Amino acid sequence: MMKKTLLTLILVLSFNGLFASTPPDEGIWIPILIEKYNIKLMQEKGFRLTAEDIYSVNRASMKDAIVNFNGGCTAEFISGSGLLITNHHCGYGQIQNHSTLENDYLTNGFWAMSREEELPNPGVTVTLLKYMEDVTEKVLKDISDDMPAEERDKLISSRIADIQAKAEQGTDYRAVVRPFFMGNQYFLFVNETFRDVRLVGAPPSAIGKFGGDTDNWVWPRHTGDFSLFRVYAGKDNKPADYSPDNVPYNPAYYFPVSLKGVQEGDFTMVFGYPGTTSEYVPSYHIDMVKNHINPAMVSIRTSKLEIIDRAMESDPLIRIQYSSKKAGISNAWKKWTGEILGLEKMNTIGKKQEFEARLTDWIEADNQRKLRYGDILPKYSEVYEGLKEYTLVNNYTGEVFNGIEAIVLARRTYELASLFQGGKTPDQKTVERTREVLSAYAERFFRNYDRATDQELFSTLLSLYGETLDRKWLAPEYLKLKATANGDFKSLAPKFYDSSVFTDKQRFDSFINGFGKSSLKKLEKDPFYMLAIDVSRFLGANVLPELTRLTNERQTLNKRYMTVQMEYDSTRIFYPDANSTLRVAFGNVMGYESRDAVWFKPVSTLKGIMEKDNPEIYDYNVPARLKELYANRDYGRYGSSDGEMPVCFIASNHTTGGNSGSPVINADGFLIGINFDRAWEGVASDMAFNPEQSRNISIDIRFALFIIDKFAGAGYLLDEMTIVE
Ligand code: ARG
Ligand code: GLU
Repeated sequence: MMKKTLLTLILVLSFNGLFASTPPDEGIWIPILIEKYNIKLMQEKGFRLTAEDIYSVNRASMKDAIVNFNGGCTAEFISGSGLLITNHHCGYGQIQNHSTLENDYLTNGFWAMSREEELPNPGVTVTLLKYMEDVTEKVLKDISDDMPAEERDKLISSRIADIQAKAEQGTDYRAVVRPFFMGNQYFLFVNETFRDVRLVGAPPSAIGKFGGDTDNWVWPRHTGDFSLFRVYAGKDNKPADYSPDNVPYNPAYYFPVSLKGVQEGDFTMVFGYPGTTSEYVPSYHIDMVKNHINPAMVSIRTSKLEIIDRAMESDPLIRIQYSSKKAGISNAWKKWTGEILGLEKMNTIGKKQEFEARLTDWIEADNQRKLRYGDILPKYSEVYEGLKEYTLVNNYTGEVFNGIEAIVLARRTYELASLFQGGKTPDQKTVERTREVLSAYAERFFRNYDRATDQELFSTLLSLYGETLDRKWLAPEYLKLKATANGDFKSLAPKFYDSSVFTDKQRFDSFINGFGKSSLKKLEKDPFYMLAIDVSRFLGANVLPELTRLTNERQTLNKRYMTVQMEYDSTRIFYPDANSTLRVAFGNVMGYESRDAVWFKPVSTLKGIMEKDNPEIYDYNVPARLKELYANRDYGRYGSSDGEMPVCFIASNHTTGGNSGSPVINADGFLIGINFDRAWEGVASDMAFNPEQSRNISIDIRFALFIIDKFAGAGYLLDEMTIVE
């Protein structure tokens, strides 16, 4: 007994000791706090520049070269003429959008051979951070946790609105204040958004998406996951709507590109827009995600993917139509599976419970603390009991009805219909405008729509909905339909699909073109429309109010739980959860032990692409030109000193979704890679970073240059880059 305690003590001590000298590379850090918290360690790890080089308000710095790409990804400037590099999977929607059977850029790639050939992408934006600021004091001044939540929230919201308005005054910038540490801190972000973003280049999917969804989230990886865009601006270098008169944007900073490559142990930094993490949640949250939500979502998506995969295999047109949708469905499906495995393997629930027990002891040991914090964990337990059920119902219902495309389109029609509802006579202009938006949506919808596939999704998903959720969570219109169909949605489907306006472009167009009061009757007979409306109504009445109440309660608890964790561990430097704001992660190029006796090296090469070559499988069908370059070892100046052509590498940077496309930067501040994924064994890092196995995956920038120059013959694009030999 004694012995065991001693042993534990020694272990704990040496564990802490170890961390004090070489902390794990966990953390997604705030750029303006690098100087204060991180730069010393970064320099110890090999970084040769300063915090000012990363973020500065006084002069051009790396942050001026990094943009949020269309909301979900990161991209960075690599030339003074607005040339942006991001991932192939980040530009996928645009590449797909420009693709037809005749001009299949997804399959064949696309390279603009001159500026005139670059393809505009209406709706796509990139956002640049001008500056950020800690506004915690302004937001939280004289606000205490004892205030009624509603009053508090109102006060906070109005202060945030003030701060934002002030920051925007007299500028073309957009300002936004975001909570950090669960609302314990607030930062202001002032942004500039560009609206003319053109596609410059993309490799064929056989390179840009090599390995497809099979290799996704997995190391070793051989994907050339990059694409090129260019930002255009008005003649004043300011954001402008698309116009042929616009000129390439001249950024304050762009990344020099290094040909030096990476060695195991090299310093790396990832600078970009991580989306969401949940590192400070209680064990109840992990239980909810791992044991309830993820399994249900994985299971329904497995069914979706079976249907979509089969359809894509059967017809090249369907492959184009569904590739982007499928990539999205499959990506999270696979990640959720990896999370379940990782959380299980790390025993994250058990570890959190142990932590909670220690924390509780510490809270109970002091009367003041007990008064302030004693209720948090018990309350969490209650809140998550409810959240588990309501979140599942909400997410699952969404997954079913967003998965049936005819229902999605029907829901879209609601806005137009509502103009006429209740006997109203809407003004003609509003009708026109609403109809135009809907038409544009439908145009794209039908381009990517296959009725037979949707019909299969309809039968399968509706059956699953009834089988999975308790009857009390099923929308009445659904139950009615189920009774009519005698539970057999398959037999019901053809009748609906053959006649509805939502399953055929011509029917849809003529329906909305002549839309008027009398059209409502037709809508009310349409099963898709009725389902769409009824499900929204049902959720709105029976699920969302309670879900919102629980979520708000959790938020209040989260803030207090964060406070107590920081108080308990008062010497630790905490990093805030990702929240789609610009962050820095740093680490080193590093392999890992994947499982017993298996060590993964950190660098993959073209040889590995050839090993995976299989012309029978779309995702592994290596292009002839690439084989030829390989056979001749024709790597130009892009190969590594050992004669290989590097493709990807892994490092210990803490990253998450949204970091796709982020620059991977070396000790001298040069671009060495583009982040695009994480390795399977460490994918649970959104909730628990595992220093042993959490690795980010990047494409080696030399491979991207090699593809542009040697493979695609678009070497002229390199002329505008600054290449460091
Ligand atoms: N897993 C990466 C991310 O989360 C890449 C996804 C795109 N690739 C794919 N095969 N679906 O976005
Ligand atoms: N592929 C992800 C993205 O699109 C990045 C990988 C991750 O989740 O770490 O943001």
